[in-house]
Amino acid sequence: MTAEPNKFYITTPIYYVNDAPHIGHAYTTILADVLSRYSRLLGTPTHFLTGTDEHGQKVFEAARKGGITPQEHADQTVVRFQELWERLGVSHDDFIRTTEERHNVVVQKILQDLHERDEIYEGNYEGWYSVSEERFYTDKDLIDGKSPEGKPVEKVMEKNYFFRMSKYQEWLIDYIEQNPEFIRPKHRRNETLGYLQKPLGDLCISRPKTRMPWGIELPFDSDYVCYVWFDALVNYISAIGYGQNDEQFKKWWPATYHLIGKDILATHTVYWPTMLKAMGVPQPCSVFAHGWWLTSGEKMSKSDGNVINPMDMIDRYGVDALRYYLMAEMTLGQDATFTEKGFIERYNSDLANDLGNMASRALKMLDRHFEGRIPLPGPLTAAEDSLRDDTLRAVKAMEESIPAMRLDQGIGAVIDAVRSANRYFESTAPWTVAKSGDMERLATILYSAAECLRIISGLLYPVIPEKMTELRVMLGIEKDGIEPSLKNLAGWGGLTPQTPLGKAATLFPRVDVKKKSEQPQKPKKDVKKKMEASTDKKVEEKKESAPEDGLLDIKDFFKVQLRVAQILEAEKVPKADKLLQLQIDLGEEKRQLVAGIAEHYEPEALIGKKIVVVANLKPAKIRGVVSNGMLLAARDESGVKILTIDGDALPGSEVS
Ligand code: MSP
Repeated sequence: MTAEPNKFYITTPIYYVNDAPHIGHAYTTILADVLSRYSRLLGTPTHFLTGTDEHGQKVFEAARKGGITPQEHADQTVVRFQELWERLGVSHDDFIRTTEERHNVVVQKILQDLHERDEIYEGNYEGWYSVSEERFYTDKDLIDGKSPEGKPVEKVMEKNYFFRMSKYQEWLIDYIEQNPEFIRPKHRRNETLGYLQKPLGDLCISRPKTRMPWGIELPFDSDYVCYVWFDALVNYISAIGYGQNDEQFKKWWPATYHLIGKDILATHTVYWPTMLKAMGVPQPCSVFAHGWWLTSGEKMSKSDGNVINPMDMIDRYGVDALRYYLMAEMTLGQDATFTEKGFIERYNSDLANDLGNMASRALKMLDRHFEGRIPLPGPLTAAEDSLRDDTLRAVKAMEESIPAMRLDQGIGAVIDAVRSANRYFESTAPWTVAKSGDMERLATILYSAAECLRIISGLLYPVIPEKMTELRVMLGIEKDGIEPSLKNLAGWGGLTPQTPLGKAATLFPRVDVKKKSEQPQKPKKDVKKKMEASTDKKVEEKKESAPEDGLLDIKDFFKVQLRVAQILEAEKVPKADKLLQLQIDLGEEKRQLVAGIAEHYEPEALIGKKIVVVANLKPAKIRGVVSNGMLLAARDESGVKILTIDGDALPGSEVS
């Protein structure tokens, strides 16, 4: 099933209602929000669904401890999610709670139908149950007597009902192989295919009420409730009226994206597709699994006590600062580390310095010299042409980054355009032009700068809607609304001369790192931050022969030829866990090099990155593979980070 361009239906996982929402939950929801907002800008009918998972043992236990009913418990806790989404400006069209009647009816109808058609049968269950994950495991799944996630399990033996999942195994493998977009990114698709190498069992879909009564009752056996995952997955179709409102269901299904975290890949790419197949419902177009937000190298989760509360970050830095950081920082599909210091640095550099400064400089000068109105531009010079080209390149990059799910790259391209606008300001020096009294030239410069800001405000609107609306008010164009089509942004010259500007104000006040950052980022003694040459022993040798005072003569430094390279291809070196083999573009030549970064980067994440390499090393063979050069990377406690180029630089450029 490929995505249908005439509609866009996106879902987030439904969150366990009893967990307090943290940055991880906020991330998936903001991502869905940003994609929905882009889709609406493109004029595509859009439906965005989120919600809460309210059945199951954890809610039942929590309610019992609190001395209230599970429903009361869910009613009290769901508010935390609803309030957070409101605060974050999340524009969902629907919020489903699995305790709602509209969901219960659909789940029961599906259960009844599958039971009647012998897709669900009665059997005996013997297995290991993890209360915290609400999942059964077989003997061979366990690792050291615990679940693969390290959670305690208990032995359970009882009569139960089973869904004939195993009979769809071959079909599913085939389907995944024939539909490369079905599971994204590619490495997650491979993970599911790997999982499907082992025989697939049938899925136990019932829980005896004697053990856990909180769930949707099986329509054919009132002593049982439905397994929480079977119930939860159905939300994606119950919310849009499956079996109840055909017109609405047909309007939105199949989903364009089920966004999920990588922790719930198997349920969404094995259970869900086989359930749909048994029901005779088409598959979603794409299940996209993003990575985890980590703190101190660990997955952020309540049980590990390392969660970051989104409300705290919003209180400190504002909604859009948080939305921006989450979207710009994570490469979709990879893990990312959340640090407050990194948060502040990115905010200060991209928003306060680059975008905020650009807006403030242009708007102040427009106010001073043109009485707060958009001026009529005069003849354009090469500088304006180049600013226009850089800005329109960002429009294209953003358009391409959305279907490619590389929002980080799209945002990066927009910030590059902002930097180019700042450079334009520096080089055309409107303040000098103002002094000289050449008002026509000044009008051209300020019009062009404002036009660039207009386009940028549209491009970043889905990511930071509040601030970009403010910017559009300042530019006097908010009343026009955001362009109905993202494509309109590609036209240069959208600002109308004489339009009165709004009142200019600071969009992104700079944050003082020392005052704000919770943890002063003193380097820990045991962590020696060092520039690290990823694979080559020669670096060690050089260190040993370095002069005693550790200082290098500049002549020696210049012997090392550092150059910019762009990664064209990346793949794992067979039988070497740590090594990646890269094909790089060094401007006038293409080369291959081997780098010890396989534990820190997925090959796909590297493609296109501009890195720094030592270009004049003697070629060496590493595990039988020729390496012609060496990349530079930094290492600290959170892992290895390769050096990349800030902005654009041509492959082959000298680094000095
Ligand atoms: N209720 C199930 C999902 C059922 S969907 C039919 C569930 N809920 S959850 O509350 O545990 O949250 C699930 C989702 O929250 C993850 O899949 C992911 O999208 C998000 N995240 C939770 N912790 C996360 C991180 N540390 N990092 C990024 N996202 C993570 O599982």
